[in-house]
Amino acid sequence: MADAVEQRPGATVVPDPGSEPHDSSRTHVTGRSEYVDDRPMLPGELFCGLVYSPFARARVKSLDLDRALAVPGVICAVTAKDVAHNLWGSIFVDQPLLAEKEVHYAGEVVAVLGAESRDALAKGLAAVQVAWEKLPAIRTIDQAVAAGAFIGSERSIARGDASAALAAAPHRLSGTVVIEGADHFYLESQAAVAYPRHDGPMEVHSSTQHPTETQHVVAEALGVPFADVVCIARRLGGGFGGKESQAAPIAAYAALVARKSGRPARLAISKDEDMIITGKRNPFQIRYQVGFDGEGRLLALQAQLHSDGGAYADLSTAIMERALLHCDNAYFIPNVQVQGRVCRTNHHPHTAFRGFGGPKGVAMIESILEDVARTLGKDALDVRRLNVYAPGRDVTHYGQQVENNCLPELFDALETRCEYRRRRADIERWNVHPANNPRGLSMTAVKFGISFTTRHLNQANALVNVHRDGTVQVSTGAVEMGQGVNARIAAIVAERLGVPTVAVRLMVTSTEKNANTSPTAASSGTDLNGAAAAAACDRIRARLAGLAVQLRDIPGDQWPSRVGGLGTHAELRVGDTAPAEPVTFADGRVTVGGFSLAFAELAREAYFSRISLCDYGHFATPHLGFDKVKGQGRAFLYYTQGVAASEVEVDRFTGEVKVRRVDMLMDMGRPVNHALDVGQVTGAFVQGMGWVTTEHLFYDADGLLVSHSPSTYKIPSVQDTPRVFNAELVFNPGNTVNVRGTKAAGEPPLLLSLSVWTAIRDAVMSVRGRRTGHAELVPMAIPATAERVLRALEPEAFATVEAS
Ligand code: MTE
Ligand code: HPA
Repeated sequence: MADAVEQRPGATVVPDPGSEPHDSSRTHVTGRSEYVDDRPMLPGELFCGLVYSPFARARVKSLDLDRALAVPGVICAVTAKDVAHNLWGSIFVDQPLLAEKEVHYAGEVVAVLGAESRDALAKGLAAVQVAWEKLPAIRTIDQAVAAGAFIGSERSIARGDASAALAAAPHRLSGTVVIEGADHFYLESQAAVAYPRHDGPMEVHSSTQHPTETQHVVAEALGVPFADVVCIARRLGGGFGGKESQAAPIAAYAALVARKSGRPARLAISKDEDMIITGKRNPFQIRYQVGFDGEGRLLALQAQLHSDGGAYADLSTAIMERALLHCDNAYFIPNVQVQGRVCRTNHHPHTAFRGFGGPKGVAMIESILEDVARTLGKDALDVRRLNVYAPGRDVTHYGQQVENNCLPELFDALETRCEYRRRRADIERWNVHPANNPRGLSMTAVKFGISFTTRHLNQANALVNVHRDGTVQVSTGAVEMGQGVNARIAAIVAERLGVPTVAVRLMVTSTEKNANTSPTAASSGTDLNGAAAAAACDRIRARLAGLAVQLRDIPGDQWPSRVGGLGTHAELRVGDTAPAEPVTFADGRVTVGGFSLAFAELAREAYFSRISLCDYGHFATPHLGFDKVKGQGRAFLYYTQGVAASEVEVDRFTGEVKVRRVDMLMDMGRPVNHALDVGQVTGAFVQGMGWVTTEHLFYDADGLLVSHSPSTYKIPSVQDTPRVFNAELVFNPGNTVNVRGTKAAGEPPLLLSLSVWTAIRDAVMSVRGRRTGHAELVPMAIPATAERVLRALEPEAFATVEAS
């Protein structure tokens, strides 16, 4: 795998990104990393289990827990009656923690049991008697639209006059894009342990991306002030958005059992239960009309987006907003009218998943561009290149200028690097032979907006403690879930204080140290928390710089550490502002003029002068000004951009897809950690490949998920990764708006996996075109499973078989 950092064409600075290992790499590979369920059991601690609905919608006629409580070892049961405030929700407070009279999705929890052993718990759960009365359920977007079942109000974003421009366009196309959901498939299922402290707050250890929300939901469930709950998140075995909101009820269940029983309580659900209960990536159905000229230049886009929100709001309205904001992706469209509506169905409440709504909007426009090209008999790359944001055509449909845009350069560089034209010609020749498995090639782009679109979430705080030996402890609200946020923040702090990265420790994330934090989500973990930590470092640095200037003029034997205890010398005092003289912090030393001392020595002198070595930093992302009502303004601080070209081969007898080769080029600004960025870029791409190809959710007639384990739900394995995988990063020093000039890597590369989907369509359409003698636009739902691909290749054969 090539993974060099490339100089952005035209840039002059030579990159020197670090590649410090992930701070958990050693304990991960030796199996010693501790997750929630690895915490040692305390005496008396209870195992918790959930009683949930097997039906999409049902009345709870009766719930009998007596037999369960009679099982030896079953200690307590919690129902809606035990909850102080039985509604929660990240945006709308609409979801019961424990349903009482009616359930609205299969997997909705009605009771929690606490037992002294796993065995007793299993017996207790088996003894619970619930009388359900099945009720009619809404299972699809179409049914919800017909019933007028929606969550929130319609959102729209418009520019120009899309109707008039469509009417006047020389060419028009319309279509529907169907995008299904996907499971997060984190390896550590949802888990929490609650410790009821009799002399202090309830302490909850949770596998959560959002410790603050978890703290608040637990407190409200218990009916206690927020200050009486502490939420701690050491690390997650993956979150991918699935633990942004949905970790909170799990923690609340554990806390409710802990409070009722007075014992520690642990809830670590199984993979199967996790998949059944928790929400997925929102399914979308998008109807569009697009107008374009004879060259393939887009003139107008009208689109109606509907998503399946599931039974409760969760984050679905924000996900829809991001979909509307990404309908343009990398392309300038002069006239746009996009509208979005979240449907209320009887599915688990769907939720954040890497990319949020972005991948859905991008899927639509990338598929449209393929169709425009095919309609005009052009190469899709030429059509994309014609439409890509460029000087003079660089303002989005919501009025934000695409600053520091390198999309045209990325397209051109990758075209050359991946030998697009030669391979396109090879594939044309290959596909002529009907005995060959058809091949497809497609290059797509990403322009992912970095910031939460909810303004108040764009803030973070950090506590930095410098110790007298020069080592540093940093606490932030960021949650380490494998992405490497700790290693990145450590690198930023180390650089700021001029100490080696090994001197910096990222401490356990806890609401006790960092309150009112945002979720680690929207790819902004490093941006927000790294900037807050940098702000704290700057204040410490200013004081230390002032001290260094004074020490320069004092003989060594008169320094505070030597005389402080004697009280024979006037104390050195400094302010919070840096001295006028330049003081440098680098290589573990602090230098002013010709005078230099070790950082650790300066830290010690600061202590003996009663100068604070600790500080707190707060960061609020500047420049944001998006007006949700008007759908206009600056929604994002910056964009992470990239391009990918994927080549696939489709088995003409089974419809199975092999990804033969992928070339990616991502703009990472000034990467803070090259190795971690490459890991994120390739990992996100492969995760996205699963979503667009093999990950298919099946529900039974009652709405219960039946594909709830790896044997029935196919995530990519190492065998499925691209045979050739060239992931390269572009060094772009022009990005100066973000901390350290870095760019977020967490979500954007996932969207490039859509190039696999468009390449599959390319292969299918090239076969169909050859067979029918004219350009045929073949719709393809996501995921493009083997069956769907085969149906698209052989519709006549399927029609004959199904008719007989
Ligand atoms: N990488 C790993 N290994 N595990 C994860 O759960 N989550 C992704 C991404 N990369 C995830 C991951 C998602 S959905 C997001 S939003 C970002 O990491 C969050 O972390 P960041 O903001 O620090 O990039
Ligand atoms: N991704 C993108 N945007 C977001 C997210 C996320 O996970 N959460 C809230 N806004």
